[in-house]
Amino acid sequence: MSAARSFQNLALVGFMGAGKSTVGRIAAAQLRFDFIDTDDLIEEQAGRSIPEIFQTLGEPRFREYERQAVERLKERGQTVISAGGGLVLNPANLESLKEHALVVCLWATPETLWQRVRHQNHRPLLQAPDPYQRMCDLLAAREPHYRNADVLLNTEGRSLKEVAHQVVHQFHLARKQ
Ligand code: S3P
Repeated sequence: MSAARSFQNLALVGFMGAGKSTVGRIAAAQLRFDFIDTDDLIEEQAGRSIPEIFQTLGEPRFREYERQAVERLKERGQTVISAGGGLVLNPANLESLKEHALVVCLWATPETLWQRVRHQNHRPLLQAPDPYQRMCDLLAAREPHYRNADVLLNTEGRSLKEVAHQVVHQFHLARKQ
């Protein structure tokens, strides 16, 4: 039998544009928790922006920074964590998050995600000749990883405020068990 989990923290995973940062900030305010974004931790550690890290050091180095950031999260309590979209690609990252956090995946269709990310240019992985196709390919490859979250929350047709409300509800339910 596995040991009971303890949920000091709440972690949001999901694809770029799923609303993790916005939902995370609202949920943190409702729970009176701190809010932290793994990309901010990485930028702080590296002393460079995410696009710069990808450009000058490459994705493997970025993923290493990401892994280190995940390790440091173990020290936190009462924190809502917004995880970079590709963080779940390393199963060890998800395992580590689950040691201290309820992991909720925000899910949306490719069409919805595309509407949210199409006018943004700070995401290196979408700087491709056909960014929509690139997004669909990445999403398809990542879907099995996202499904390993504790809770899969469909965000379609819901405002980010409603999604945040659902996330907080799921967190309270998990803590009661
Ligand atoms: C990435 C998502 C980004 C950021 C980096 C890589 C990914 O975070 O970590 O550009 O692999 O999906 P957001 O999901 O917060 O945009």
